[in-house]
Amino acid sequence: MQKVLIIGAKGMLGQELVKVFSVPSAQDEKKYEVVAWDKEEINITDEAQVKNKIRELAPQIIINAAAYNSADKCEEPEYFEVAKKINGLAPGYLAQVAKSLGAIFTHYSTDYIFDGKNKDGYNESAFPSPISKYGESKLLGEKQVAAVGGQYYIIRLQRLFGSPAKSIEAKKSFFDVMLKLSQEKKELGAVDEELANFTYAPDLALQTKYLIEKKLPTGIYHITNEGSPATWFGAAEALFKVAGVGGVKLIPLASSLFPRPAKRPKYSVLLNTKLPPLRPWNEALKEFLSENKRS
Ligand SMILES: NC(=O)c1ccc[n+]([C@@H]2O[C@H](COP(=O)([O-])OP(=O)(O)OC[C@H]3O[C@@H](n4cnc5c(N)ncnc54)[C@H](OP(=O)(O)O)[C@@H]3O)[C@@H](O)[C@H]2O)c1
Repeated sequence: MQKVLIIGAKGMLGQELVKVFSVPSAQDEKKYEVVAWDKEEINITDEAQVKNKIRELAPQIIINAAAYNSADKCEEPEYFEVAKKINGLAPGYLAQVAKSLGAIFTHYSTDYIFDGKNKDGYNESAFPSPISKYGESKLLGEKQVAAVGGQYYIIRLQRLFGSPAKSIEAKKSFFDVMLKLSQEKKELGAVDEELANFTYAPDLALQTKYLIEKKLPTGIYHITNEGSPATWFGAAEALFKVAGVGGVKLIPLASSLFPRPAKRPKYSVLLNTKLPPLRPWNEALKEFLSENKRS
């Protein structure tokens, strides 16, 4: 049996990874012993702790779903320092300990490492050029992991949705936020810019398992749901249609009317040229809504 360590296990993605590796499918009865750690068990920015605790545990697979994800706060110098430690340096510590153990290391990154000027989207080898401090911190993490080497996977995703994280600072996904607002307001504005796809956390967790089990070549992978890329306004329209929300007027907004501290890429579709495609995001959205009895 292989020991798999999942870090950030209370997060939106982390909790799905724990499920996927814990539940044996018909063919692979009890293949993994899952160890689920979050902030209470480990501080990934503490290099000595990372090395000591993980060496002692000696997992064969390490998956890092921990991150600092507040793009707007990262624009403040104080929080950028925090983000650089969690998103930038800590992945390097984890990659080092994984390499020393001969373990497979999987880490997650984002479309925000791109500038968003390419309307055709970005494949795995496209040149990164972040336009926000959050993007800079995540790119630093990618570079640290690649510099260490070993058997690593860097998986880029965008616009994660799924059950809210169980962690203290848990953020809700865009779809949950819009559903809540639709119960409170008659009119809702959404930015009609920033074209991208969405990523359903359970689908991403399954695809991560696939990538690891197939022992695909080390390097960068793009995993998002397929479908038609949407702006935030377009995604809200699709959500209200699927969830049967009526009586709320949706208003498309220019991003200039909705100022936020961090710049966002205008076009940041992540092109997947290496893996079997996932289902379209609006199909995954139907499952998300029905599983959570939201519709
Ligand atoms: N969410 C998105 O839309 C999105 C988009 C693109 C890429 N990604 C990437 O996808 C991955 C998963 O994101 P997610 O949304 O699932 O994250 P999440 O829900 O914010 O979960 C991250 C988890 O890591 C924990 N954590 C934070 N600092 C830590 C530390 N120093 N040591 C140990 N644990 C720590 C968090 O605890 P607290 O919450 O208590 O701090 C939380 O439980 C991340 O790499 C993220 O950057 C996410």
